[in-house]
Amino acid sequence: MDIFDKCHRFTRAKETIEAGIYPYFIPLSGNDGPRVMMENREVIMIGSNNYLGLTHDERVVEAAVEATRRYGTSCSGSRFLNGTLDIHLELEEKLARFMNRESALIFSTGYMSNVGAISTIAGKNDYIIIDKSDHASIYAGTWAATGATVKRFPHGDINKLEQVLAGLNVNKGKIIVCDGVFSMEGDVVDLHSIVPLAKKYNARIYIDEAHGIGVLGKHGRGACEFLGMEEPVDIVMSTFSKSFASLGGFVAGPEVVINFIKHFAGPLVFSASPTPAATAAVLKTLDIIQTEPEHMQRLKYIGDTMRREFKTLGFDIGTSKDTPIIPIYIREDEKTFMFWRRLFDEGVFANAVISPAVAPDKALIRTSFMSSLTDNDLEQVLAAMRKVGNELHII
Ligand SMILES: Cc1ncc(COP(=O)(O)O)c(C=O)c1O
Repeated sequence: MDIFDKCHRFTRAKETIEAGIYPYFIPLSGNDGPRVMMENREVIMIGSNNYLGLTHDERVVEAAVEATRRYGTSCSGSRFLNGTLDIHLELEEKLARFMNRESALIFSTGYMSNVGAISTIAGKNDYIIIDKSDHASIYAGTWAATGATVKRFPHGDINKLEQVLAGLNVNKGKIIVCDGVFSMEGDVVDLHSIVPLAKKYNARIYIDEAHGIGVLGKHGRGACEFLGMEEPVDIVMSTFSKSFASLGGFVAGPEVVINFIKHFAGPLVFSASPTPAATAAVLKTLDIIQTEPEHMQRLKYIGDTMRREFKTLGFDIGTSKDTPIIPIYIREDEKTFMFWRRLFDEGVFANAVISPAVAPDKALIRTSFMSSLTDNDLEQVLAAMRKVGNELHII
């Protein structure tokens, strides 16, 4: 038996490429935000998490260039040793203040933030309780939490969550970890139900605000702010790869917990720190999020409009609510690829999501919108969706 045998047996990607419906790893040869160049033509992008369209804001670009000139292209080391810059500390201070938390800690990606924070907080004698639809990086955090017991409850099922909590050993530590906005479903975590349960069963709460910051809440602090539930949430985490238009992530919470993570999280201690360009870009976008609410307002208008229009057209959009993430459930892998291809032919790029990323009967086209899309872009998207939906008998 050769350890590579499974690689030879994996032929599905090749077959899909040969059928001309492979939706992954398509290179972009140009990108101005809402419109990108793919396969030598311009397409409208409705598959990006660049929610506020800030990746191409001149001020953000300039900040990244300026930081590169000043500090170079890489920190060439971990935060722990030679890789901490003064702008890393400035960003941590500003993030803590923005999120109303005692302390914040940045990582080089959002994925690493979840893996580092969750695996450090939870260990032997602890429970991690997660929603089944939580992001892959939360799952990875639970796998890295050596000795911790992981319990899952069906997406949004509060009765099941209570059953799980009621069955746990009262003498062990507990933390409930959920996405604030679920990245595929586009719905918001039910903190109004989770918080009383956490209190009853003495569990801490950790919320991933990757798709919440810059999107929800009066000040853009995310799902917790939107729900009026910031205070009872112990730890918030987010990424810089979405509204912050950069790369990296952070966790924020009580100083004593953040300090512990800072000294024990492998992805922080043993991996290089965020680049000067990425860090400076976040400092600038954080400033823009706090001073220019018009981007968030436009995003909300677009999300609400497209949700209403998709529903009117007859698409199954599941439980998406209040966010710019709107899934179009196709519920069959092959048909999802065909829908994706036809949409792409019509000049629109969305994301095809199949099992195992979602359950096999939940294959979907994930649409996510950015505030810089014009009304004209949206009309073109709707026309393409109507055409392809009719053609494939989905609406
Ligand atoms: C909910 C959620 N958490 C974490 C991450 C990871 O973030 P990053 O892309 O910065 O690694 C993502 C990315 O898609 C996400 O959707």
